[in-house]
Parts: sequence; C-alpha cells; structure tokens
Amino acid sequence: MGRRASRPSSPKWPGEDARRSIALQLPSPLAPAYNPPFVDLALTEGLVKRIKAIYPGSFDPPTNGHLDLIERGSKIFDELVVAILRNPEKDPLFSVADRRKMLEAMTSVFDNVSVDTFDGLTVDYALRVEARAILRGIRAISDYEYELQMALMNRKLQPGLETVFMMPAEKYSYLSSRLVREVAQLGGSIECLVPDLVEQKVREKIDVAHKFANREQSAGKTPSEGKSKFRKKKL
Ligand code: PNS
Repeated sequence: MGRRASRPSSPKWPGEDARRSIALQLPSPLAPAYNPPFVDLALTEGLVKRIKAIYPGSFDPPTNGHLDLIERGSKIFDELVVAILRNPEKDPLFSVADRRKMLEAMTSVFDNVSVDTFDGLTVDYALRVEARAILRGIRAISDYEYELQMALMNRKLQPGLETVFMMPAEKYSYLSSRLVREVAQLGGSIECLVPDLVEQKVREKIDVAHKFANREQSAGKTPSEGKSKFRKKKL
C-alpha cells in the first residue's frame, strides 16, 4: 500500500478532491499536519507542466556570458532552445551555420538544451515550438531599457508568452559579442571571454581577413576600395 492508505481520513484535507489538479496547496490551520505528496503524484500522473523556453539572440559569436545564461536557464526550464536569429540585414562575422555549430558544441553537456535557428518574429517562433517563455539576459542597468521595451512589445504581440530575465555571473557583466569582435579584430586577447573553440574560430576568421586585407594593400588598393568585411563592418 502507498501513502494514500496511511493518510488521515477525517477531517478531510481541504480541497482533497481537487488536489490532483493543482500543484501546490496551502495547509489550513484546521487540517491535521499532512504534507500532500503532490510532487511524486504529479510527476507520475503527468500533472506537472513541462516548461519550454527559448533563448533568442544573434550569438555572433557566442560568449561565456551566453554560456553562463544557458546553464542557468537549463536549471530552471525543463527544455531550453537556443534560437539564433537569421537576420539578412546584418553583416555578421559568422554565418548562422557556424554559430549553430559553435553553440551545439558549447551546449552538448546539457541534456535539455538544443540549438535552432529562426527568422521573423521571436514570438511566432516561440509559438511554433510551443515554448511558454523567452529567456533574456540582463547584464547591467543599461540593458534594461531595451530589454523592457522588447519584452513589453513581445507581450503585446503574444500575451501568453512570458519573458524571463536572468543575470549572468558578475564577471561577464561587461561582456558582449560586439566587444569580443572588436577586441579580436584589433589584436587583443579574447581568452576567458569566449569558450576555447570559439576563440579558435574567431582567430581563424580574423587571420583570413588580415591576409585578405594585406593582399589588397600590396595590390595597391586603399582600404576603402577593398571588399573586406572587417573594414566596413559596423562593430
Ligand atoms: O542577441 P541580440 O542581438 O540582442 O538578440 C536580439 C533578438 C534576436 C532577440 C531580437 O532582435 C529579436 O527578437 N528579433 C526577432 C524579430 C522580432 O521579434 N522583433 C520584435 C522584438 S520586440
């Protein structure tokens, strides 16, 4: 016999009949001390809703700050999809396919994290994959205004979808993909800012770009004539 047989029969636990349909219940002072076994019952009877969230972004390139947030998200959501925006208007350092590969490698240790790409509205993508939350990171107060605006617009577009903000570790509070690109392009070290595999990919990209630029220069072209995206790229 399970716990049900040893449970007191009178007085009846308030809401006993409805207990199976709710996850949490506050005890009444009149009821005998009783801890309803809601967790195991709910799990075995499929009453706990699994929360799937998406973590949308550009991830160009993915940083340790992103990874930190993914790890935190993976602990509170049952499923987390890292969703890379396919944005034709931007001039990215990495192709979407490269970013996907890097993120897949970075997140392979998390059983409940997957990587996907999307275009169009984030809320439409979230609905398509049946996510109930959008995860976004807030590093400093300067992020807040933009993030709030985006979260409220997303709520206007899709009221049933919640945006959940999480803070990455303090040591990443100054870190952004834009700064990683800038520092790397100007010859600075990005060690400890991105995972090793990303650092290597960034270096490879920049070496190729520098070789290309040097070739153009030795062919007598001025930088503005060249086609290298590293010169015209908006950082
Ligand atoms: O990493 P980023 O660049 O800060 O991510 C921004 C992103 C991709 C989350 C945002 O630009 C976005 O959601 N774009 C998809 C288009 C969209 O839904 N726009 C309305 C947002 S309110």
